[in-house]
Amino acid sequence: RLRVLSGIQPTADSFHLGNYLGAVRQWVRLQDTHETFYMIADLHAITVEQDPKVLRQRTRVSVAQLIAAGVDPERSALFVQSQVPEHAQLNWVLECLTGFGEASRMTQFKDKSTRHGSDHASVGLFTYPILQAADILLYQANAVPVGEDQRQHLELSRNLAQRFNHRYGKTFVVPEPHIVKDTAKIFDLQDPTAKMSKSASSPNGLIELLEDPRRSAKKIRSAVTDTGREIVFDTENKAGVSNLLTIYSALTERDISDLESAYEGKGYGDLKKDLAEVLVEFVTPFQERVQSYLGDIAELDKILARGAERARSVATETLSAVFDRVGFLPAG
Ligand code: TYM
Repeated sequence: RLRVLSGIQPTADSFHLGNYLGAVRQWVRLQDTHETFYMIADLHAITVEQDPKVLRQRTRVSVAQLIAAGVDPERSALFVQSQVPEHAQLNWVLECLTGFGEASRMTQFKDKSTRHGSDHASVGLFTYPILQAADILLYQANAVPVGEDQRQHLELSRNLAQRFNHRYGKTFVVPEPHIVKDTAKIFDLQDPTAKMSKSASSPNGLIELLEDPRRSAKKIRSAVTDTGREIVFDTENKAGVSNLLTIYSALTERDISDLESAYEGKGYGDLKKDLAEVLVEFVTPFQERVQSYLGDIAELDKILARGAERARSVATETLSAVFDRVGFLPAG
């Protein structure tokens, strides 16, 4: 079976709808066809300052959300990045293979460092995509399910895999991004030209899976749309409506064209009202499942211990091949 790896950062109190539709939902699906490795990227999280207590809590809440979304710890290796030390070890080797200019071209660093002020940005934030490459290459992943915003990082992973293979002999699988076009970029409800993100300018643009569902419903009902009245998918002229249709279609698995005909002659208000209901029906049982998993921390930690063990059995093998190729002496 082909392998999949992906990760998510535990840097918010809740996943948002973009995380879910763009990435996590694909993670769940790929379990049917692939050998799957899914991790909480806590090493990535500390590239910006985190409160230790909050980080620990968010890490567990992230795991609970993944399981509630359908990641099955029996079928997937579900683990926390820091519990598999090989990530940091392979990271070093890959850093030594990455050009400074190459790393400087990563646009997410440019965006984030301007937000934090470049003097305050950590070196870890700068080298972040290289650690991401280590995450992927350690598992010889063939496919990496992510949203559109991770495309450039995936390109770096591919380049590093190819460079290593070229220099030291075939060692790594060159990974392919698995980006599902329809939901690759979910937009902010208040600014439908910007991606939905936890750093959004207005909290009303962001749907958090763990917020009060009534609050989410209200955000949907007050989403920005255009002055027209027709409900058609047209990303250029009707970015807001198109985003709502994308979300609606993804949550109900109804085709967009089907929705367009169902809403012919109806208004934006009808669409928003119905979508708000669909969303509430999705998040309500999701939240119940999250709460029940969080009710048994010992069990969650046991799942993570097992996940880390499974991950390590693959990671140690890759790392020892890498260390050997690079010319390090065998460890004891
Ligand atoms: P993160 O934690 O920012 O986001 C997790 C996933 O959610 C996707 N995503 C979106 N998809 C569609 N529309 C949106 N508005 C939206 N916002 C976020 C992201 O593309 C991502 O797939 N660097 C990664 C975490 C990571 C990783 C990895 C991913 C660490 N190591 C190895 C893949 C492979 C990140 O910060 O994702």
